[in-house]
Amino acid sequence: MKSMGGMPRHVACVMDGNGRWAAQRSLPRTAGHEAAETAVIDVIEAARSAGVTWLSLYAFSTENWRRPAGEVDILMRLVRRAIRKHAPALHARGVRCRFLGMSDPRIPSRLVQDITDLMTLTSDNRQMTLTVAFDHGGRRDIVQAARSLIRTATPAEQVTEATFAQHLPYPDTPDVDLVIRTSGEQRISNFMLWQVAYAEWVFPQVLWPDFRATHLWECLDAYRRRQRRFGDVRRPTTTTGEES
Ligand code: IPE
Ligand code: IPE
Ligand code: MG
Repeated sequence: MKSMGGMPRHVACVMDGNGRWAAQRSLPRTAGHEAAETAVIDVIEAARSAGVTWLSLYAFSTENWRRPAGEVDILMRLVRRAIRKHAPALHARGVRCRFLGMSDPRIPSRLVQDITDLMTLTSDNRQMTLTVAFDHGGRRDIVQAARSLIRTATPAEQVTEATFAQHLPYPDTPDVDLVIRTSGEQRISNFMLWQVAYAEWVFPQVLWPDFRATHLWECLDAYRRRQRRFGDVRRPTTTTGEES
């Protein structure tokens, strides 16, 4: 989907570098996860005020279960604490909160409850949709969609990209326009594979706990300077619609 007015409709962040941020300070890795909360809140508000209507944040991957149990446990606690602390402000600002993934029985039931409460509380909000990818894997979503198609006995010739996408979780989610991966790493790491098919990517060096509104603005500026062609050659345009 082409973005309008140079502002990406859907921005997605791979929030990477918490462990390195802590290591630079001789702190345990979990101190980096703790410090990430400020960045998350800053970016949600900055994106909302910039007019981004869909924001997705990668918080925990299906592969992150491989980490030491102590780190996983603290991450779960920090997410729960952040939800309880920020739910009223998110709701007041009109943010609809969704969690993408969330199928592993190892997620503590109290956290599942708080997430469910937050999604219910904010379900009618429309200023911005915040999707937190939590226990998320892009391949798993695609496999789930295939299973769902098979369960509905859809004839093979009726399976198109559009019908397939209807079986993904949250099928109303628009394609991602811009992915920001902090910390300099340049990988997809199994993130929203279907939705990032034609996204622009930026890889700021800053570690996620240091990421602030100004960094987001720089990424939005970089996006505006990109030419999105979608495979075409005739009228390459910048995202502001100027002929180049
Ligand atoms: C991202 O930071 C947070 C999660 C994956 C939960 P990391 O924990 O991956 O930090 P680095 O990559 O080790 O610095
Ligand atoms: C990706 O970061 C997952 C999240 C940001 C939640 P990782 O740090 O886990 O990814 P890899 O291991 O570098 O691919
Ligand atoms: Mg990492």
